[in-house]
Amino acid sequence: MVSSQPESQLNTSEPVAVDTLKIGLEYPPLGEEAAIAGLRQLHLKVHEASPGPGLRGEHPKSLGGVWATFRVAADIPAPYGIGLFKEPHSFRALIRFSNGRSFDDRVPNVRGMAIKVFTTQNENDPAVNHDFLLADHPVFFARNVQHVLEFLIATSTGTPAAALAETTYPKLKGFNSIATKSPLRMSYWSQTPYQFGSGAVKYFAHPAVEQDQPLLDIKLSDSENSLREAMVEQLTKRKIGVNFDFCINPQTDANTMPVEDPTVEWTSAPIRLATISIYPQRFDSEQQIQFVENTTWSPWNFLPEHRPLGGINRARRWVYSDSQEMRHKTHGVTSTIPTGRESF
Ligand code: HEM
Repeated sequence: MVSSQPESQLNTSEPVAVDTLKIGLEYPPLGEEAAIAGLRQLHLKVHEASPGPGLRGEHPKSLGGVWATFRVAADIPAPYGIGLFKEPHSFRALIRFSNGRSFDDRVPNVRGMAIKVFTTQNENDPAVNHDFLLADHPVFFARNVQHVLEFLIATSTGTPAAALAETTYPKLKGFNSIATKSPLRMSYWSQTPYQFGSGAVKYFAHPAVEQDQPLLDIKLSDSENSLREAMVEQLTKRKIGVNFDFCINPQTDANTMPVEDPTVEWTSAPIRLATISIYPQRFDSEQQIQFVENTTWSPWNFLPEHRPLGGINRARRWVYSDSQEMRHKTHGVTSTIPTGRESF
């Protein structure tokens, strides 16, 4: 499920001197296509072996797939009021919280928040989704596709990830934290950049401060499903919703905030674009769980104003559709674009 894409705006495939980088442009390194091909091939093998062809190749464990509203703010500064954020509007959204690799919520891991915004306003128009994929750490662990590929080769031939974290992948340590609070109280970042008009941004979602008080007493249990249980406790049993501020860090300097290296955090002044409200709900019907399982979130489900940028995103275009294809084939389902009007 890949959205129609504007003409490529890739700048050049020649190496460029660092001080000539320009805001909002991509600089694919030489040899990237071969690295992407290698990554796809190896990822399919790793996926098939673990977690298995019927599950997502990464983030296989869902902690909960919940309905939400994505409310575009009325006070967005002028240059940022474009695309999805053109005018104040309340969109329906579906959010899948997940673990990166682990099936036991108590062990160190990275956690994901995948947001699908249903952007079609007229029921009779074809469904168009815009997805934001975020994780609970500000930066990615690898600089580029080749760096990811080398990591996969090393781990699939027996080098422990912990050893790599001590040497060539220091940012990997952030991917291995023990969760101390509910997924509804964590912050999440896109790590990779996205086009925003003529500029580039990274996204993050942060629990709104006013939500903190009533939740202080929800403690994680000592269960392999403690994170899902904390979500159920809040949204279903106590019927308490949660708001997230949805924000951007714009690229204000193309050299210190590179598009092609997601191990670098962008720390420009944040701008709030929307509020995500996850309201009290049950989210455990078999139908809803299956629907979420068969739905795909991808950076490549996008509105043209917010195209994914950088090598890691260029690779994800193919790796995510490979993963989707493998799991859909295993379950005998066809890929459909959800409308947000599904009910269970
Ligand atoms: C080259 C680097 C990456 C590879 C190879 C990769 C691979 C994958 C794959 C195969 C899936 C499952 C897709 C599906 O079956 O639907 C996935 C899901 C996911 N990835 Fe990545 N990923 C990469 C980078 C990232 C980055 C930078 C983020 C940053 C936030 C991220 C966040 C997520 C999340 C949140 C999900 C779960 C989506 C869902 O809930 O359906 N990934 N990734």
